[in-house]
Amino acid sequence: MFFKLPPAAFQRQDETNDAIFYRFPRLVQHIDDGAIAAVTALYRDWLPANGAVLDLMSSWISHLPDDVEYERVTALGMNQQELAANPRATDYKVHDLNQSPQLPYATNEFDAATICVSIDYLTQPVAVLAELSRVINAEGPLLITFSNRCFATKAVAVWLQLSGQARGQLVAHWLDLAGGFTGAELVDLSPTSGDPLFAVITRAR
Ligand SMILES: C[S@@+](CC[C@H](N)C(=O)[O-])C[C@H]1O[C@@H](n2cnc3c(N)ncnc32)[C@H](O)[C@@H]1O
Repeated sequence: MFFKLPPAAFQRQDETNDAIFYRFPRLVQHIDDGAIAAVTALYRDWLPANGAVLDLMSSWISHLPDDVEYERVTALGMNQQELAANPRATDYKVHDLNQSPQLPYATNEFDAATICVSIDYLTQPVAVLAELSRVINAEGPLLITFSNRCFATKAVAVWLQLSGQARGQLVAHWLDLAGGFTGAELVDLSPTSGDPLFAVITRAR
């Protein structure tokens, strides 16, 4: 299934520069405790202990299990204060992926990568995912999680048209278009109550 979405699919209600929206830190949880616990459990299962992890579209929390050590946790996001407050980040960069989908990292620099409740803000998700396939080592996991909450004015139009599993199918489609990944699996990790939580799990080729 290789169809190309029209440009309108990636339009947003707020088309101003993302630096404006993210100029003030938001030191808040974007999903509830149960959904965060589901993300953390997923990370525990998939992220290699002592590995180098890239947390893309990061903030002041990365949801990594407290009792697992990682050699490196690199956080990339839009707000310097949020990233500086992230206790797991060993290094961070402020970088606008909608201005420049190229990742400021070397090929094969990471053993794994995560994107938590954020892929809906990318106006060029396929380009960013292709870059992720470059910077993640062969066989390294990419874990993309999402819920039903978002900054609606900053999410791309196609995301707002879909819900639940259909959003996961859209992410899997973007992974297909990006190339460089194998076997995207969509799983529903929603707790019995509270925020739903879905994950698309794949590995770099
Ligand atoms: C809803 S928050 C999620 C933050 C974090 N991943 C979490 O789970 O709490 C969305 C994040 O996406 C990042 N983001 C939004 N637009 C971005 C862009 N154009 N380039 C890079 N990061 C972006 C912001 O820095 C923000 O931290």
